[in-house]
Amino acid sequence: MIRQTSVEEILESYNDTAPLSEASTIPAPWYVDPRIAELENLTVFSKTWQVIGRADQVAKPGQFATATLAREPIVAVRGTDGELRAFYNVCRHHAAKVVTEACGSASILHCPYHGWNYGLDGSLKGMPEFEGVKNFERQENGLVPIRVETWEAFVLVNLDPEAEPLEDFLGGLVRRCEPLGLAKLHFFERKAYDIACDWKVFVDNYLDGSYHVPHMHKALSSALDYKQYTIEIEDRYCLQSSPMVTSEEDAATSNTRKGDRACYFWQYPNFMINCYEGYMDTNLVLPLDVDHCRVIFDFYFSDVSESRRDYNTQSIAVGDRVQDEDLGICEDVQRGLKSRAYGAGRLSLRREAGEQLFHRLLATDLKAGVAEAVAAD
Ligand code: FES
Ligand SMILES: [Fe+2]
Repeated sequence: MIRQTSVEEILESYNDTAPLSEASTIPAPWYVDPRIAELENLTVFSKTWQVIGRADQVAKPGQFATATLAREPIVAVRGTDGELRAFYNVCRHHAAKVVTEACGSASILHCPYHGWNYGLDGSLKGMPEFEGVKNFERQENGLVPIRVETWEAFVLVNLDPEAEPLEDFLGGLVRRCEPLGLAKLHFFERKAYDIACDWKVFVDNYLDGSYHVPHMHKALSSALDYKQYTIEIEDRYCLQSSPMVTSEEDAATSNTRKGDRACYFWQYPNFMINCYEGYMDTNLVLPLDVDHCRVIFDFYFSDVSESRRDYNTQSIAVGDRVQDEDLGICEDVQRGLKSRAYGAGRLSLRREAGEQLFHRLLATDLKAGVAEAVAAD
């Protein structure tokens, strides 16, 4: 029989204390072993603050937004009392999804299966044809609540009732983003890409400090001053930033990428905020399975009036090309990670500090998850 490497052995094969000059990436099995994906689901995605929607979707009483997180259906809803709440979007009767639209407005949350009704505060209000059922407490059968908070333009939830407050989790990112006025921008459009790679391959590609940009994104590269590129890491975020230069070669890129600096924020584990002057897009990287992820791009502009539609659309089209270039290389890397020729790779001191931060934070969470599971046994 072929001996299978244990999860503990896989985790131990990464040294998270090595300085960057001696560090390697997390080893290939971390990207291809379904047991690691499952462990991430139970730890990373079930215990960190995760973006599930936009603050503008739930600004008014009755407004709701739904999402799936760690395979759990979630709904966030603003109550008539103005309070934002979130729940597992699972009916207490026979487990159907209660709110089926992506977002909208309602006065009651109505389960489509057998018609149970829940208030906007999650309390069970009514069950048709349930007279005579014994030992059933309506008060104890409300939707199960989840921690929820908003920050800037985003709604975040945490499935761990013991989790630290959102502001502590975000740490220095809060202060860093404050002067940018992100919440003043307006949502314009969403695009989603399904990619045949582990979610971490996409994050790694994002965090390589622009190492790949001159090689993979020739047009974007002409609008950025690659040599002046800076990388800051603190707490759980990495800010990659570059001065903007006017490109003669590519009018569409320089026309839609304005301002002094381009700022690319990544917040552990899977959320990115990219901004230029009057522009922001966010990327949310969600694992589908060990070989696939979905990346959701939300585009925001300072002006979303009809007269700016063409400009905004052109700006998104510039991003499209970059996305396509990234998609291709990420899928190629996923294939390479399965090769017998590859184990782990070294990191550029100049460019890849963000990747190391990601791998260290991930290692900490996964090792803690295994230790917890062992203690519970
Ligand atoms: S599952 Fe919701 S009413 Fe039956
Ligand atoms: Fe890229």
